[in-house]
Amino acid sequence: MGKWSSFFSTDTKSLKSSEIRDLLKLTEGKSVISFAGGLPDPSTFPAEDISRITEDVLRSKASSALQYSATAGVAELRKELVNFSALRGITGIRDDNVFVTVGSQEALFMLFNILVDPGDHVFVERPTYLTALNVLRTRKPIFHGMEVSEKGPNVLQLEEELKKVSKEQGKPKLLYVIPTAQNPAGTTMNLDDRKRVLELATQYDLLVVEDDAYGFLVFEGESPPPLKALDKEGRVIYLGTFSKILSPGLRLGWIVADDEIIKEVELFKQNVDLHTPSLNQYIAAEALKRGIIQNNLPKIRSLYRQKRDYMLASIETHFPSQVKWSKPVGGMFVFSWLPDKIDTTKMLEDSMRRGVAYVPGSSFYYDYGGRNTMRINYSFPRKEEIERGIQILGSLIKEKLQ
Ligand SMILES: Cc1ncc(COP(=O)(O)O)c(C=O)c1O
Repeated sequence: MGKWSSFFSTDTKSLKSSEIRDLLKLTEGKSVISFAGGLPDPSTFPAEDISRITEDVLRSKASSALQYSATAGVAELRKELVNFSALRGITGIRDDNVFVTVGSQEALFMLFNILVDPGDHVFVERPTYLTALNVLRTRKPIFHGMEVSEKGPNVLQLEEELKKVSKEQGKPKLLYVIPTAQNPAGTTMNLDDRKRVLELATQYDLLVVEDDAYGFLVFEGESPPPLKALDKEGRVIYLGTFSKILSPGLRLGWIVADDEIIKEVELFKQNVDLHTPSLNQYIAAEALKRGIIQNNLPKIRSLYRQKRDYMLASIETHFPSQVKWSKPVGGMFVFSWLPDKIDTTKMLEDSMRRGVAYVPGSSFYYDYGGRNTMRINYSFPRKEEIERGIQILGSLIKEKLQ
């Protein structure tokens, strides 16, 4: 009990710092090879372009860029985002359908608060993005899962679960899903499954929150259109982010949704932070206008593809044959399924002692399942670290299997 803990609200007391986060903090500033984070490779940041743009914006628009601005976002950026969305096949939208947020994390926070009441039936992938899960947990829904294997999400299971819930428990409400280059699994849902998900959403009257954080980072094969591009009913709320394609430090994301939903988000955001930083929005708008982001995408994709190849080749060489792993066609992560007898949370301490960090997979399961799984990041570590780190992990796994 801390000195001030009796002052904290009941909701705040239920927020827990995860053991794993605490453990991973120990790696900060040490020479540990980290496969744990989800950080972009810093060489992808167009620092000189951003510097030039910032100077230009401050010279020509300081009175707006340093001023308060509209809650839904700076008009110039919303307009650019309408055009940029077309690159993902999202068309037929207006500026009013776009809402600028402080990263897509804020979008997740606001949307789950706006949409989810305690006891609501919420469907998520098993595993899914940790921080989305943590926000959802604060809303106390009843979780239902769609299993993701190295082959992708099991949409048939989603269908069965929806059928069962609506028959026995009540109306399904929301699906949170990352169809493209999923975090953590690294898998991508095929086009037929995407269509099926939308059919199910219509059939069961579900709202869908589609997190497309890695949609612009598909580096192999055709990138299937996001659900939002296939959505004819306005049922899909789409989330985009500048974090992986420009800079996470700018903290910029956006929502594309039906006007009615956007209006609620606007009311909510007024209570959170009034608006997203104006200067950052002008910088992003200008980066889109000048084509800096668009022109940088092939470079980022090619770098991550090389790093992915490097990691998969290392895994192939060093992991024992009983281990399974995803073969991502985009994004930043490989997910690995180890034999059941290995608990990756327990193994993390040994791994860190040998100088390698990863995220144990159970953090990504709403029910803390998946204790034999792990997420490995390839976007941030250098190539030589990937090789060495995977070798160390491989020998540790082999020891644990003996
Ligand atoms: C799937 C997914 N959604 C959302 C986010 C949040 O990103 P940001 O708030 O930086 O836009 C991340 C970050 O890693 C992510 O992987």
